[in-house]
Amino acid sequence: MEELRQKYLDAIAGAGDEAGLEELRIAALGKKGEISLRMRELGKMTPEERQVMGPGLNALKDEINSALAAKKAALADAALNERLRAEWLDVTLPGRPRPEGSIHPVSQVTEEVTAIFADMGFAVAEGPQIESDWFNFDALNIPPEHPARQEHDTFFMSRADGCDRPPHVLRTHTSPVQIRAMQAQGAPIRVIAPGRVYRCDYDQTHTPMFHQVEGLAIDRDISMANLKWVLEEFCRAFFEVEGVELRFRASHFPFTEPSAEVDIRCSWEGGTLKIGEGNDWMEILGSGMVHPNVLKAGGIDPDEWQGFAFGMGIDRLAMLKYGIPDLRAFFDSDLRWLRHYGFSALDMPTLHGGLSR
Ligand code: PHE
Repeated sequence: MEELRQKYLDAIAGAGDEAGLEELRIAALGKKGEISLRMRELGKMTPEERQVMGPGLNALKDEINSALAAKKAALADAALNERLRAEWLDVTLPGRPRPEGSIHPVSQVTEEVTAIFADMGFAVAEGPQIESDWFNFDALNIPPEHPARQEHDTFFMSRADGCDRPPHVLRTHTSPVQIRAMQAQGAPIRVIAPGRVYRCDYDQTHTPMFHQVEGLAIDRDISMANLKWVLEEFCRAFFEVEGVELRFRASHFPFTEPSAEVDIRCSWEGGTLKIGEGNDWMEILGSGMVHPNVLKAGGIDPDEWQGFAFGMGIDRLAMLKYGIPDLRAFFDSDLRWLRHYGFSALDMPTLHGGLSR
């Protein structure tokens, strides 16, 4: 019996896997197993022999069973440890801190401008980029022979054969949205209209497609004073400089009377642009009181209502605020430029959270 015991305990200790253990169990304790056969022989023994052999064989059977179970657990532990070692993951590695893409400066500035004017009660209006020449010119008091029609280097759409309507144009400014807003809403109105505009022009500060934002406020008693306050308030908030100073310079637009161009005080000292100090002036927008003919074209009675309008270049604002020297790079889709000048998608500009950082 001691021989059997040693043989099986040694074999179990040396077993390499569960299948090997099962073979050993069958060899020792299966129906025809060595220990099982011995137990069957108990019947043929004398009662005295049986009294010694019976408990001894039962104890051996128990010992082998628990040795098998212990070895099985040890093999399972070893297998689990091997998996834990192989399927390793360092959860302390840092995550990726910023998303892959970035927000284009034009989108960023559009959001900033919208947030500021929304705070002053202006809603956002829109119009088509392919515009009829009536909305782009006539309704804005620019008659066919007016020189402003040539001043704008306009892109004309081609017409179908036999069509004698005047050709549509790629809108040369966002001012046609004034007319569309008047027709859609009637007075009073407070809207801004950001969007793409087109002129045939190309150099460091001009691209054939660029962005403007139009502003329009119409009510019973709106004056130049309201225009001045709104624009100063806007510039203070947008450039994030308390001491901005604006200069209103008499000018001419067919759709406003009187008209003013607005310059902002700045300095170019050391080759960098600073807003709100210095002795230079930079033109940033055109504005004025809406011409009575424009109100009429929009279906609004000029004897009852009046208002102001302004238009400024969004790309120009972005260049000024973020120190971007060449406008053409805005539309090159160069990833290095976009990574450098782009903004985080997670930083939505708001007045309370900060506009630009
Ligand atoms: N539409 C003018 C331009 O493109 C700007 C402007 C808008 C001027 C509204 C006055 C009033 O230059």
